[in-house]
Amino acid sequence: MPVSPARGAAFEALLRIENTDAYASELLHSSRLAKLPPGDHGLVTELVMGVLRWRSVLDNTIGKHSSQLVTKLDLEVLTALRMGVQQLIFLDRVPAHAAINESVELVKRAHKRSAAGFVNAVLRKIAENRPKDTGLDVCAAHPDWLVDRWRQNYGTDAVRRICEYDQTPPAPVVRITDPALVAELKEEGVRLAPGSFLTSASRVTAGEIARTKTFRERRLAVQDEASQLVALLIGAGGSILDCCAAPGGKTRIIAEGNPKATVVAMELHPHRARLLRKLVPDSNVGVVAGDVRATPVCKTFDAVLVDAPCSGTGTLARNPEIKWRLKLDDLLRLQAYQLEILFAAMKHLAPGGRLVYSTCSLEPEENEQVIEKALGNDPSFAVINCREELEALQRSGDLVSVDLESLLSGPYLRTIPGVHRCDGFFAAVLRKSE
Ligand SMILES: C[S@@+](CC[C@H](N)C(=O)[O-])C[C@H]1O[C@@H](n2cnc3c(N)ncnc32)[C@H](O)[C@@H]1O
Repeated sequence: MPVSPARGAAFEALLRIENTDAYASELLHSSRLAKLPPGDHGLVTELVMGVLRWRSVLDNTIGKHSSQLVTKLDLEVLTALRMGVQQLIFLDRVPAHAAINESVELVKRAHKRSAAGFVNAVLRKIAENRPKDTGLDVCAAHPDWLVDRWRQNYGTDAVRRICEYDQTPPAPVVRITDPALVAELKEEGVRLAPGSFLTSASRVTAGEIARTKTFRERRLAVQDEASQLVALLIGAGGSILDCCAAPGGKTRIIAEGNPKATVVAMELHPHRARLLRKLVPDSNVGVVAGDVRATPVCKTFDAVLVDAPCSGTGTLARNPEIKWRLKLDDLLRLQAYQLEILFAAMKHLAPGGRLVYSTCSLEPEENEQVIEKALGNDPSFAVINCREELEALQRSGDLVSVDLESLLSGPYLRTIPGVHRCDGFFAAVLRKSE
């Protein structure tokens, strides 16, 4: 029996994500998968994201019905089982026999023919006693060490909300500054609802935004609302450096808000720098492929954004593989790298200038602790209270009237997935003395 193209593609993608550092969202948007008919692409997305979101719960279910330890199974066998269980529990429209038979075919195709009977038997047992998706524990779908530290740092109520948010595909959010686009999108079958706190942000409630002409012509950007808000914290300046810029969501907003400014967008990886150039063709933006830590200070800038590479624990709803890859030790390793980048960026800032440091991490090691360590080393920098910045954004009409307190943690911006309907972002605004 042949394997359906969608299940074959999902199986390959899941193996690649386990075996390499590939990201699911990038694979799902790759040109190869984009060629699949919309229905198949939708199923691949459900399978890949569903398996990654619920991996521990699926493994637990497999373990209860298997004569072999899950940790001893070959990756191909385990992946086919995970896909089968995911369909049995979550995809009502897929008949049990299709989910089971195709997983059996997947292991045969992966040259694990001897495991075919085992996969068949385990999935049949699970199909007979399948748990209901509504009763699943969202916290159990995360590693314990992460849940424990979030409980300590954010409290019991927030940890449940974070885990719930992570387990549901978030609606895409778009930034629209030209009201005419709303009508165009409506023509293309896209329905929008207001964002949570930015006037320019809208949630897509129906329609396929990525298939619209408006999107293909890059007349709008799909970008999480918290990410948009961080870019707005940069404010105005004649010269602005975006140190860690690709794929360019924040550069685009900075360039749009400062059309007369010289904006330099720096990015370590040349292929990502090329992608950034495509996404942000604005003539006032210069793209530089380079390492900010090794870039000599030829001139200083009025404003600098350091949107640092980070663990990404604030983005698990869109990048669920991160929770299985990340280890506690990684946080201090990331902190050391973030500090190197931040120290380098601070040198590029002119006296009296402003620097925004941000991450999409929920972990204090990558956020508050980075700022404390950086400032402990350089008394010419001070933290500006983000409350003032948010109040200014309310006065300018960018930010709607929301409870500012909920967006703040001390002097910092702090969004929490589930508490806010967006990714978890941290931002600190620093000023350099004159
Ligand atoms: C969090 S992402 C930036 C997202 C981007 N600001 C946006 O809004 O679309 C961090 C980026 O920093 C880049 N990067 C990592 N180390 C760097 C370095 N030493 N110098 C410059 N860029 C770096 C990564 O390749 C990655 O593209």
